[in-house]
Amino acid sequence: MTPTLKNDRFLRALRREPVDATPVWLMRQAGRYLPEYRATRAKAGSFLAMAKNPDLACEVTLQPLARFDLDAAILFSDILTVPDAMGLGLYFVEGEGPKFERPVRSAADIAKLAVPDMAGELRYVMDAVSVIRRELDGRVPLIGFSGSPWTLACYMVEGGGSDNFSKVKRLALDDPKAMHALLSINTDAVIAYLRAQREAGAQALQVFDTWGGVLSPSMYREFSLPYLTRIARELDRGDAPLILFGKGNAPYLEDLAASGAEGVGVDWLIELDEAARRTRGQVALQGNLDPAMLYGSPDSVRARVREALDSYAKGNGGSREGHVFNLGHGLSPDMDPAHVGALVDEVHKHSAR
Ligand code: CP3
Repeated sequence: MTPTLKNDRFLRALRREPVDATPVWLMRQAGRYLPEYRATRAKAGSFLAMAKNPDLACEVTLQPLARFDLDAAILFSDILTVPDAMGLGLYFVEGEGPKFERPVRSAADIAKLAVPDMAGELRYVMDAVSVIRRELDGRVPLIGFSGSPWTLACYMVEGGGSDNFSKVKRLALDDPKAMHALLSINTDAVIAYLRAQREAGAQALQVFDTWGGVLSPSMYREFSLPYLTRIARELDRGDAPLILFGKGNAPYLEDLAASGAEGVGVDWLIELDEAARRTRGQVALQGNLDPAMLYGSPDSVRARVREALDSYAKGNGGSREGHVFNLGHGLSPDMDPAHVGALVDEVHKHSAR
């Protein structure tokens, strides 16, 4: 039996329905800025051991909810589980971030890729989703997620993080056919992955297009946008809303709003006032405080939160409906949990209807 949802502000806001206060959750809300996260990670031995153990993944997913009055939980996992399950061999080097043992470099490498088995290599992700749903007991909805086809391709081709994305851009420029084959298989994998998470219990789904903004407009329109749109059109998601988050996606807001997704997540390089005017109530908007605002004092955090809430309302005809408060990108390890607490508290306080 699934318990009824006690707090459905987040899902209601995504449907642009009236809510008693603006819902808030934060990208990377479970992470190294929390001492209890660092303790669980030390116990697990590594990030991957923690993510691959459903009970530990559940433990860290719930940690931020015990501290803050957040309106959604997000599955503790990583976008790179999918290429890992495709056989690329994900590993982490301390201080250097994610890496792949076998990056994808040629059309021949791409031809060998297949959509991974959701009940096989990725079973641990679905198990984590069902354990978390059970332990949440209807307190708040659970968000499942995936990387975007382009963002996954960045890591798959570069073999890890990158400053200039030279390898993945070279492949797109010199062998667009191979690049489209890679993006197409990634899209099939993302659709299957999100669907499996929804079937395991995820109540909303987010796609992270973290690196879409490194593309020129013509390349974004060729290598990222069509695949995001395909996900929004083809993903069988029942009543689970889909949010397309992208760093640097402000130039494409009209296209993203027309994609068929229920929500669009934006970074802090655009005012919510403008984002709301340009999307004209077609989608809910999520965002968009600059994470660096958390380096200011709690009073300054509160003032910036009010500014973002009011900016949204200004562009949305005076109404706060259809807004999910979030940062424009994830929390960093050196952020102070007390400042995060001030943020969450101020969102609810200032937006209470
Ligand atoms: O938001 C959440 O709380 C849910 C968990 C989550 C993680 N990664 C946990 C994680 C989510 C949604 C992600 C997505 C993710 N992973 C993205 C897209 C979102 C974004 O931030 O742009 C990307 C690009 C990745 C790839 C990745 N995984 C990077 C760049 C890193 C950081 C490496 C580092 O050392 O800083 C990871 C590892 C990772 N994923 C950590 C966490 C909490 C840190 C690992 C640790 O504990 O050392």
